[in-house]
Amino acid sequence: MCGIVGYVGDQQALGVVVEGLRRLEYRGYDSAGVALCDAVRLHARKRSGKLANLDKVLDEQPLPGASIGIGHTRWATHGAPNDRNAHPHLDAAGRVAVVHNGIIENFAALRAELEQSGVEFASDTDTECVAHLLALELDRGLDLTAAMQSVCRRLEGAFTLVATAAADPSRVVGARRNSPLVVGLGDGENFLASDVAAFIAHTRQALELGQDQVVTITREGVRVTDFDGRPVEGTAYHVDWDLSAAEKGGYDWFMRKEIYEQPRAVADTLLGRFTREGTLQLDEMRLSDDELREVDKIIVLACGTSFYAGLVAKYAIEHWTRIPCEVELASEFRYRDPIVDHSTLVVAISQSGETMDTLQAIRHARQQRARVLSICNTNGSTMPRESDAVIYTHAGPEIGVASTKGFLTQIVACYLLALYLAQVRGTKFGDEITEIMDQIEAVPAALQKLLDGIGPVEELARELSTARSVLFLGRHAGYPVALEGALKLKELAYIHAEGFAAGELKHGPIALMEEGLPVFVVVPPQGRDQLHEKMVNNIQEIRARGARTIVLAEEGDEVVVPYADTLIRLPRVPTLLQPLVATVPLQVFACELATALGHDVDQPRNLAKSVTVE
Ligand code: AGP
Repeated sequence: MCGIVGYVGDQQALGVVVEGLRRLEYRGYDSAGVALCDAVRLHARKRSGKLANLDKVLDEQPLPGASIGIGHTRWATHGAPNDRNAHPHLDAAGRVAVVHNGIIENFAALRAELEQSGVEFASDTDTECVAHLLALELDRGLDLTAAMQSVCRRLEGAFTLVATAAADPSRVVGARRNSPLVVGLGDGENFLASDVAAFIAHTRQALELGQDQVVTITREGVRVTDFDGRPVEGTAYHVDWDLSAAEKGGYDWFMRKEIYEQPRAVADTLLGRFTREGTLQLDEMRLSDDELREVDKIIVLACGTSFYAGLVAKYAIEHWTRIPCEVELASEFRYRDPIVDHSTLVVAISQSGETMDTLQAIRHARQQRARVLSICNTNGSTMPRESDAVIYTHAGPEIGVASTKGFLTQIVACYLLALYLAQVRGTKFGDEITEIMDQIEAVPAALQKLLDGIGPVEELARELSTARSVLFLGRHAGYPVALEGALKLKELAYIHAEGFAAGELKHGPIALMEEGLPVFVVVPPQGRDQLHEKMVNNIQEIRARGARTIVLAEEGDEVVVPYADTLIRLPRVPTLLQPLVATVPLQVFACELATALGHDVDQPRNLAKSVTVE
């Protein structure tokens, strides 16, 4: 989820590009850079850290005037967030500069091919491959547009690319596959950007691009083709958002935008991690297979929503790997004198990578000689640096304080870890792993279908906006979902909400049941042991005591219908994957109810996005 800007026109490109990057600042990032194309050559400046660091470099080492330029703010996926990995990336001769958002799945093979041909890489990024490949095409006599078309035909994965070439100072060329790129249509000037926020100060006329398209912008106009060079039409539209709405992609809240980004976030987290040969490759796994075979216990450490992701993961980890797995609140772990040794694998889950409770817990674990693996969404944050291995989620920046896409992608990353352990330790055959990966790879589409029909959940939230207490019940992997649903409502609506294991009802909580009390029930898929039958009994018990039952059940489950005052249908997925779909209606419910109450959904009272104190 990087920020990209391209400009061709009569204004000074530097000002337009840097201002455009500033408009994308909300996307969060760890480095920034620009490249300008004057009539002679390319000039580039880039720096790690905030945009202010780039401003400082531009002051200290001014760039010549130019009316063509590209810029980038990076949210690192491959390669640490430092100066050498910052974009733009240029070929060795400085003929072409390119910026990129996304993940090029086949970059390792492309890099090996280029290195074998004598290319020396200056960075650790997948993007630099594109700069070298474009330069080779330019050397063959292609113009930048044809070069981009040719290179895109070789790329796999999700990408937005924007490039400029010294020999062709009249155009900027972009391309997209499964990653955003929009055109701003000006008078004698044109723009490319990750989203319209970057250029609506200059123009509100935009052009939406389709999948697998290359766009060439010049002062005179815009030309769009497919990757084979065949002309295609973009979709023109007028941007009527204000800047604040534009930063949120037209949504009212970052949280709502991030809820709707979940199909893409899950798909990106899976990208490049499962080979065609049916084997998993976790490129940041710095623990050897032998070390992983020595593991005799897993302890998951996390806080808040990330802790609930760990609770979900436990079911899959133990079922697929047969390794005992404890899930513990990081803030409790080191004070209980835990039993940890070199055969313990500590898995720290953290979206920010900066949560002090979790950091202190892994430091304690390392002192006890445990191996530590982080699951984190923020490349270059403290936790991955203090771990033996890291699996990055590729959710992109999560701006809303209430975690949504961070949670789903953490679960996916845990599943990838569990399957990798099963692969390494032989507790799952290759075909079994392939079958499970196929099921996981079907989740983004299931999420999209669920979100497309989520309207009734929003109506329910507005109807229940005066509720003073809401309960959530779940069983098995649905129990942590109930806990997460309650936390979302607490965080956002500031009302009493509590999640329970449904089997605990008769041990106390059923005393809470009263007339009209809203109770969400996450029903396990049918056909799994007696779980489903027991949950239906629970629904009957609470309904008999007046509760308002809001039942989340898979499509086709007709058994629950007579007991559901409100029925929310979930896509059919295997039991262990149901948290990935069951959580979404609860996120939407909490977001919409808080909105109805007039609360600040993105910045709830008393909360911070990252709790960097104990
Ligand atoms: C979740 O909505 C909250 N923002 C909070 O519980 C969060 O999950 C917790 O503070 C852990 O944060 P981390 O994932 O960045 O470590």
